[in-house]
Amino acid sequence: MAITEDIRTNSPDLDRETSKARLQDLKFLVHRQLLDRINLEAVSALPLDRVRQEVRPSVAKILSEDKTPLSLVEKDRLIEEVLDEVFGLGPLEPLLKDRSVSDILVTTNRLVYVERAGKLQRTAVEFKDNSHLQRIIERVVSRVGRRIDESSPMVDARLPDGSRVNAVIPPLAVDGPLLSIRRFSKDPLRPSDLTNKLALTPGMLDFLESCVKSRLNVIISGGTGAGKTTFLNVLSGFIAEDERIVTIEDAAELQMRQTHVARLETRPANLEGRGAITQRHLLINALRMRPDRIVVGEVRGEEALDMLQAMNTGHDGSLTTVHANSPRDAISRLEVMVGMYSGNLNQRSIRQQIASAVDLFIQIARLSDGSRRVTHITECIGMEGDQVTTQDIFLFERTGVSSDGRVLGRFRATGVRPKVSDRLKAAGIELPGSLFQSSTEVR
Ligand SMILES: Nc1ncnc2c1ncn2[C@@H]1O[C@H](COP(=O)(O)OP(=O)(O)OP(=O)(O)O)[C@@H](O)[C@H]1O
Ligand SMILES: [Mg+2]
Repeated sequence: MAITEDIRTNSPDLDRETSKARLQDLKFLVHRQLLDRINLEAVSALPLDRVRQEVRPSVAKILSEDKTPLSLVEKDRLIEEVLDEVFGLGPLEPLLKDRSVSDILVTTNRLVYVERAGKLQRTAVEFKDNSHLQRIIERVVSRVGRRIDESSPMVDARLPDGSRVNAVIPPLAVDGPLLSIRRFSKDPLRPSDLTNKLALTPGMLDFLESCVKSRLNVIISGGTGAGKTTFLNVLSGFIAEDERIVTIEDAAELQMRQTHVARLETRPANLEGRGAITQRHLLINALRMRPDRIVVGEVRGEEALDMLQAMNTGHDGSLTTVHANSPRDAISRLEVMVGMYSGNLNQRSIRQQIASAVDLFIQIARLSDGSRRVTHITECIGMEGDQVTTQDIFLFERTGVSSDGRVLGRFRATGVRPKVSDRLKAAGIELPGSLFQSSTEVR
């Protein structure tokens, strides 16, 4: 049953490719034989680590019947891989076990990237072919009670460990199935991690903590993967333990520290296209749940107006994120979202809603060296004519790049005493005036 032939070649690259392909083939052969020999249903009642222990000898036996010469290390690896195929998520398992990986991006069955410390890297991980990849994707989504097939070729789901998964299959995915996994570490970043990573200065963090405690309405804005959700998590940690928090998300990924948290998650439509529950539905419902704080994972569309209205009508202290490149851009994004779903509001009234609802914008960016920085803390101070007026309180100014590629710059207070200081004072918080004059270099 040896499935490998001795092919001699002069190219080392070709050699490596062939031996990789041979090992892949061997793995699947062993896998198939294993499925013929063991009663999967019987063992699947056992806890996962026990199952692996029980089945391991059978895999080793099948492998020993094969004549392919393998080193001990190769043999061990192959056994693990076969077990990963049967009980886990196949080639993804080693990546899922690696705590330093924050994103796993399967781009084609031969092209798997990961993000580590803010940088994308290609990995050696490969799938046998598209149907292998699709099988693994089906396993991922079926584990969380969702399905993916031609009639619903796009899925957003959350794994039991809190990771967020997005999968798209053909015909929407042009070159074969696509899978993106955003990992969330078991211990979410703490405020001190953000200052250690130089995402902002301790002074800026103090200011933001005071703003959350004084029930300001805060919008975190940033691009994809900039760290909005992470930052929202950290800020929400400043909410007092005696407040009732309701969270609303498309795929629940917030990790709140408080105990009194009511968590809501949207639901997609069923096969007949019915039964969808949107963030807007949940938001309207949340208002009846006596929340002290409403935290919306990300405003994306029709819920924007309801969110602003909630912020304006007594549900202050709400927090959310929006996908935008600057505080000004965040305002236009909100304007478009509200305008799209409420034809009867004119532009000026929409802007008025925004101006009176939002107190603070926090802009986060992911820089070219993979680091995250708070680039703006900007307050929304009202309207002037038809425009929403804002003023920057803290900025990150980029000054250059070090010889090893790190972005250099400084966090600078603009010198403006924030208008919200009065509200902080009313809440019993007084910050030193020097905070709003400070400047900190990042080297
Ligand atoms: N300050 C930081 N330093 C280093 N890594 C960070 C920082 N903030 C977030 N990350 C990492 O960056 C990744 C993206 O973070 P997050 O999910 O918060 O971004 P996001 O802006 O909400 O993304 P999306 O647009 O996809 O919703 C995560 O893996 C997270 O652990
Ligand atoms: Mg997010």
